[in-house]
Amino acid sequence: MASLYLHCTAPPSSKLRPSLHPLLSKPAPFISHARRSHRHPLRASSSDSDSPNRRNVLLGLGGLYGATSLISTDSASANPVQAPELDKCGAATNLNNQQILDVNCCPPVTGDIIDYKLPTFYKLRTRQSAHRLNPTDVFKYNLAIQRMKELPEDDPRSFMQQAFIHCAYCNGAYNQPGQGELDIQVHNSWLFFPFHRWYLYFYERILGKLIDDPTFALPFWNWDNPKGMTIPPIFLDPKAAIYDAKRNPDNLKAVVDLGRTGNKDPMQLVTNNLTVMYTEMVRGNADVYDFMGKPYREGTPVNPGPGSSERGSHTALHVFVGDPREPSGEDMGNFYSAGRDPLFYCHHANVDRMWTLWKDVLPKDKVPTKDITDPDYLNASFLFYDENAQLVRVYVRDSLDTRKMGYDLQRIDLPWLDYRPPVQTALARIKRTTSFFPKVFSVFPLNLTKVVRFEVQKAKKGKADELLVLEDITVDTTKFLKFDVFVNDEDDNPLELDKAAYAGTYAQVPHKAPKKTSTTSIRLRLTDLYEDMDIGDDDSIVVTIVPRHSGPGVTIGGIKIIENPNKA
Ligand code: C2O
Repeated sequence: MASLYLHCTAPPSSKLRPSLHPLLSKPAPFISHARRSHRHPLRASSSDSDSPNRRNVLLGLGGLYGATSLISTDSASANPVQAPELDKCGAATNLNNQQILDVNCCPPVTGDIIDYKLPTFYKLRTRQSAHRLNPTDVFKYNLAIQRMKELPEDDPRSFMQQAFIHCAYCNGAYNQPGQGELDIQVHNSWLFFPFHRWYLYFYERILGKLIDDPTFALPFWNWDNPKGMTIPPIFLDPKAAIYDAKRNPDNLKAVVDLGRTGNKDPMQLVTNNLTVMYTEMVRGNADVYDFMGKPYREGTPVNPGPGSSERGSHTALHVFVGDPREPSGEDMGNFYSAGRDPLFYCHHANVDRMWTLWKDVLPKDKVPTKDITDPDYLNASFLFYDENAQLVRVYVRDSLDTRKMGYDLQRIDLPWLDYRPPVQTALARIKRTTSFFPKVFSVFPLNLTKVVRFEVQKAKKGKADELLVLEDITVDTTKFLKFDVFVNDEDDNPLELDKAAYAGTYAQVPHKAPKKTSTTSIRLRLTDLYEDMDIGDDDSIVVTIVPRHSGPGVTIGGIKIIENPNKA
């Protein structure tokens, strides 16, 4: 396997410059947090940040935040989404038929909630690539999962209770406190990265405690590197505790398909994958919300909009692993069951790693700031059980730095970081003379069921910093849906993504939402693409949208090109 990947990623030579990054360059700090912990009775969760007047005034704006998805200002605050009230946990619902699941995802309700304070530690845990784990670490990992599976079912740290956490926060078991029937949903918004970071944090600490090893760290599935682009082999041993039978049998040893193109050629898949990574991490984002996801506050309807990493590589791997023989793609292919596959946590350890890399490693000149400073983001909270089965409340603001949380990452080359396509002058020239494509106004609103191609006016002639905005994307949340966007794509082979013309992706993991549809928008930064294709001086571009799912499920209200309002 390894040699295949080495061969297929070697040329073109300049594309793959291995880069080393200083993630582990500093010695582990000794961290001591002096904050006191406050005890709250179970139901007091909605009291801290309630200012009723302000909240009521802004409640009516909740819908506005959801619909006007271009809002990306720190001043439009209402209140943060609050941690759920566990004693009001209700039935979770399955996606396909909106029927109530035959499992109860609600956690046991016990005692008081403590505001969590990050503990003191002496040594950072180091998360390593699952493809490089040594046999001792593999043994420990399996032992820890085995012990988790042996805990009594009603222990909040048990394997199924941990899996239910994902179900409860993602399948409508919780309402937003004080917001009537409005669900809490931790996907498709700016809560995506922080929620999953906290979820893995406690999962990791519970596993460490079960094997009495405070340095235990979850491995990450290094799917962004050619050497990690298969399911890590340690997950394939049917006798191992980390094994799960509900996975797509065709993909157990296949090269991952981050672009969901359906291409079967492993070499083409690797280059597609690197292009997807480069586009969603480096080239396609104009501000922090494009990467992290859209604002989601108290009163905001669910699914305001996913960031580029969530909708791209993250979604693709859920669907890649989930078993198509199961009714809802269980386990990984569906939010309610994803946590039942130990591979889920390994996948998400890499998703979490992408957040760290985006913040720490990516060139600073791409976006004005890498941090969301909005108090409604920083003060959003969740509830988890810690390694001692204590119920704790955690805040987004305490999850921003993994080193303060006690863990760091093995350093691995990032071959996608420099994977910028070569300038395609010749192709762009041919396209410039074409005039037979329909104009944008004649195509939208669009019910996306087949490949469409149309011409859009650029905002400005010359080397402008511009964004392609796809507005009012309405999706059926119960389906896997995906489409790719290309600009001036001449060769028209949708199985290949490794070209300058690939501008970005929308995709979602099937999940339940109250209305079955939700509406969002996405922005794709075109600035580098113009340069790569040498089309900055054109008046217009030709956009191609390629659906990757079959049948209906997506409508797009409109498309336009605007100047980048947040220049770095
Ligand atoms: Cu909470 Cu990858 O999903």
